[in-house]
Amino acid sequence: MRNVTIVGAGYVGLVSGAGISDFGHIVTCVDISKNKIKELKNGKIPIYEPGLDELIKKNVKAGRLFFENNIKDAISNADIIFIAVGTPMNQDGSADITAVKDVAKSIGENLNNYKVICTKSTVPIGTGKLIIDIIKNYKPNDIRFDYVSNPEFLREGSAVKDFLWPDRVVIGAQSQSAFNIMKEVYGPLYINETQIIHTGVVTAEMIKYASNSFLALKISYINEVANLCEAIGADVHQVSNAMGKDGRISPKFLHPGPGFGGSCFPKDTKAFLSFSESYGNKLRTIQAAIETNKNQKQRMVEKIKKLIGGNLKNKKIAILGLAFKPNTNDVRESASIHMIESLNRKRCIINAFDPIANDEMKKIFPNLNYKNSWQEACKGADGVVVMTEWNEFRGISLSLLKSLLKRPILLDTRNIFDIEKLIKHNYKFDNVGRKYLDEN
Ligand code: UGA
Repeated sequence: MRNVTIVGAGYVGLVSGAGISDFGHIVTCVDISKNKIKELKNGKIPIYEPGLDELIKKNVKAGRLFFENNIKDAISNADIIFIAVGTPMNQDGSADITAVKDVAKSIGENLNNYKVICTKSTVPIGTGKLIIDIIKNYKPNDIRFDYVSNPEFLREGSAVKDFLWPDRVVIGAQSQSAFNIMKEVYGPLYINETQIIHTGVVTAEMIKYASNSFLALKISYINEVANLCEAIGADVHQVSNAMGKDGRISPKFLHPGPGFGGSCFPKDTKAFLSFSESYGNKLRTIQAAIETNKNQKQRMVEKIKKLIGGNLKNKKIAILGLAFKPNTNDVRESASIHMIESLNRKRCIINAFDPIANDEMKKIFPNLNYKNSWQEACKGADGVVVMTEWNEFRGISLSLLKSLLKRPILLDTRNIFDIEKLIKHNYKFDNVGRKYLDEN
């Protein structure tokens, strides 16, 4: 059993803290936000993540998980310190690592015995070296530490599951002893024979960007294939299903849609591209994935324009789904943002509904007509656009929907509706790579 401190009680920090305490270690999550820590101490979880609430409560009750504001004490008492603070995107697309550097300075100033310092935040490749230098600069001369890069591969909406049952754990450790300590932290996984991969620090940093960028590339690829399917009358789901049967390709992340969003893929692909450029080895494939994604978002706007036909001014459009994917209230870089911006420019009246992300979207677009159900959003609308594949939307009755809409126009950007049924109900519809509008 080890004493672990997690600096940053955001999405990555909380999931990691809850998960590591569940592995049997004593974990303290620290955050500079007094309000957040107060809420956490009162049992209020600041983010929506399935299973997190229960996991936190269970480990708090077991006396293994604590929340504090005092970073000094939390550092002094720890054997291992995880850096899990945010790295938001700068205007030029690069990551802002100010918070990471501040934490490194605090760690150096409060280092009282040998510790392993581990970064979980997604930081630009090469940041590990910078963190080591900052800690060295501020720490007492006679005290040693080891640095580790331990990237996270958590998906929002299934982060708890991803943490407790990962495909692999990557540990970029400077020394064998630091690797062994990290192996202890992830002990229960090791017993279950999860692959724990020991690499160098910079290699671990690279693995994170290479993995996320590859997944983004895969999505952009299938989106382009879907667009081609539309042009020739092929069905992209049959294509991706057959492709996915090939173990070398795998069926995952071959689902076409309105373009990837979220806090990771858009940011990480841009950062990886600009990193590659700075080394004179431009990643052209990633540049293409970014460009394709931008086009895909616009393509969805063109589709609804075409379905509605004529002037969009004063047309009432229902947008179902605001989150960048289901099971999260996160709307960052969501494809629905581009859709709303474009429809706003055309002076459309927008009825918006998301099962849990209405409040988040209100922070960006305060003036839309936010509704409390898909039925309310669709009532009297000239058309409906499904932007997120919530299960709730999969179960929509097409006859009820038709009775609510002014015109039976539907753009299914997530391909959740059965084409035969849409035809049977006489919808004018479009989707991504399955049935081209002109064929309806
Ligand atoms: C992503 C990675 O999947 C995680 O492994 C990684 O740890 C995380 O970023 C991160 O760096 O923190 P996340 O952003 O939560 O996770 O969401 P994903 O499930 O990967 O989805 C990203 C976007 O791609 C969503 O907009 C989703 O709708 C879209 N997507 C995903 C598709 O359009 N098609 C697919 O087949 C899969």
